[in-house]
Amino acid sequence: MKNHLLRPLWCILAAIALILIARHFMVPDDFGVHGKGFTYGFHRLSNVKEWQDFKVKYRGREYCRECHEEKVEKSNSSRHRAIQCENCHGPAVDHPDDPETLAIDTGRGLCLRCHAALPYPDNPRSQIISIDNAEHNPDTDCSECHDPHNPDREEG
Ligand code: HEC
Ligand code: HEC
Ligand code: HEC
Ligand code: HEC
Repeated sequence: MKNHLLRPLWCILAAIALILIARHFMVPDDFGVHGKGFTYGFHRLSNVKEWQDFKVKYRGREYCRECHEEKVEKSNSSRHRAIQCENCHGPAVDHPDDPETLAIDTGRGLCLRCHAALPYPDNPRSQIISIDNAEHNPDTDCSECHDPHNPDREEG
């Protein structure tokens, strides 16, 4: 073969060899298609365990019942029943061991996340009953007048 054909050929072969060597050192041993078919595609087998061991930070409201039953009962019978306690108090993780207590935010911003009127009528978020922040008792915390665990207005 002519030299001008051989030289690029060697270059290409060298590049392929380099890629294979790099791959050998960089790709973890357990990377591949595990199990039948391509259901999960290529993945690291050890990654499955890593996600199994991943610590879930949120516990859900039933977890609170053991120690804050009154709050759970109250909230379950109100229009706030769909909201998780941890939405307002933060993740419980190993509370009451770690953290020993959860945050209490009495600022208006906490409530305005959901109750500030939005100018987007087609957005489902706009269906939540809303107030005008500047008009609705602007200088007072919402929880001075509304119980966050049962904000329902009295009937009648
Ligand atoms: C095993 C019992 C236990 C469980 C379960 C538990 N808590 Fe607590 N909680 C405590 C204790 C103890 C304190 C600290 C003492 C106190 O302030 O009442 C506390 C404090 C708090 C406080 C602060 C109270 C304050 O007056 O400063 C909040 C808010 C709170 N917990 C919310 C929750 C929520 C939400 C959950 C469920 C995700 C939960 N707790 C689950 C025992 C528990
Ligand atoms: C919409 C936000 C919101 C949700 C949802 C919510 N809380 Fe609260 N929580 C507050 C606020 C604000 C305060 C402070 C109330 C105050 O100062 O009057 C508070 C206070 C508390 C306190 C301590 C003060 C007290 O009144 O004894 C506990 C304990 C508590 N919440 C537990 C819970 C539990 C359990 C749930 C779920 C069933 C829950 N909260 C759901 C906003 C919320
Ligand atoms: C000074 C007391 C007071 C404060 C502070 C207050 N509210 Fe109210 N709010 C009321 C009263 C009273 C009503 C019922 C009368 C009415 O419908 O206007 C009401 C009604 C509402 C309603 C129902 C509106 C409707 O159209 O039916 C929502 C939602 C609401 N408030 C949210 C909030 C939020 C969120 C905050 C804090 C950003 C807040 N409120 C602060 C007294 C208060
Ligand atoms: C995560 C979203 C969310 C947060 C945060 C939130 N709310 Fe609500 N709130 C709702 C939903 C949803 C309803 C029920 C609305 C409906 O049925 O149209 C509601 C209803 C209400 C009502 C009307 C009750 C009635 O009988 O008409 C008031 C008042 C209220 N919330 C006050 C508050 C206050 C005060 C806070 C802050 C402590 C707060 N909300 C935080 C979602 C939220």
